[in-house]
Amino acid sequence: MTAVLYGAPAPGLVDIPAGAQQVSPLIPGSQDLAAIPDAAIDQAVILAPGGVLERDYVLVQALRALKPGAPLLAFAPKDKGGSRLRKTLEGFGCTVVEDARKHHRFCHVKRPEQPVGLDAAIAAGAPRIVPGLNAWSQPGVFSWDRLDPGSARLIAQLPTLSGHGADLGCGVGLLAQAVLASPAVTSLVGLDIDRRAVACAEHNLNDPRVTIRWADVRQWDDSLVGLDFVVMNPPFHDGGTEDRDLGVAFVRTAARMLRRGGVCWLVANRHLPYEAVLAAAFDSATVREDAGGYKVIEARR
Ligand SMILES: C[S@@+](CC[C@H](N)C(=O)[O-])C[C@H]1O[C@@H](n2cnc3c(N)ncnc32)[C@H](O)[C@@H]1O
Repeated sequence: MTAVLYGAPAPGLVDIPAGAQQVSPLIPGSQDLAAIPDAAIDQAVILAPGGVLERDYVLVQALRALKPGAPLLAFAPKDKGGSRLRKTLEGFGCTVVEDARKHHRFCHVKRPEQPVGLDAAIAAGAPRIVPGLNAWSQPGVFSWDRLDPGSARLIAQLPTLSGHGADLGCGVGLLAQAVLASPAVTSLVGLDIDRRAVACAEHNLNDPRVTIRWADVRQWDDSLVGLDFVVMNPPFHDGGTEDRDLGVAFVRTAARMLRRGGVCWLVANRHLPYEAVLAAAFDSATVREDAGGYKVIEARR
């Protein structure tokens, strides 16, 4: 039997089929649900993401990949799209049995013989060139259809960088594009935990100086050291919940990657207290701009 699991539900929340293959793009090394052939799998357990286009895309990819009659369990926290799951699945032609516990809604369906609306939902959630960005992006990736205002502030403050560098949490690569405008940049490694962002960044940063890695910065293996610069707009949410440790891990990893005298340019929401970790990991850290709710910081090793 082939089963897939999308996401990382809290232990004990649902029964996970033995041997289920992980298909979440946020878990490095997982399979791509969109690459599974039609009617190939026997069971799917989906912790549905919160964004509408992203959620619909994942649900229809699961329906497409399931054999007719095979069971799908889709669930989500009530306040993060769970209360809309039933209607969404009914819209795709499913008969839904719903239950609720532990602040989640659980929708059990059997894959209909003839689901409806799959092509439209796949098209709406698929990777593509987004006109406003003039770049490849996909619903579900960070700030998927506009340049993040924090990144815009960092780009505006960046000096012309040179040498070997990295962009931690590179997303679809818009910050990296700005860095690569300098011909003095000899190499740039982009790292992101989101496979969709990595795939888009590979399109957007089609440059021989660039390598993109699908990786979790928190588990970085220290295979990249002696860099001249790091740029980053560190995340501070993990699975929709504020997680300040995530940004702290980014700061520490950046410091480990840099050579002595190397520089890290980062932007952070001004309420995030990175001062202590910056002071511990770097020789100096200077706020170069504090405006619009963001701090742009230059930190030197
Ligand atoms: C604030 S966004 C910045 C994106 C991009 N640099 C930009 O400026 O548009 C943070 C990025 O970090 C990625 N991310 C979150 N947690 C991560 C982790 N543990 N390891 C690597 N990347 C992570 C997210 O997928 C997201 O693309």
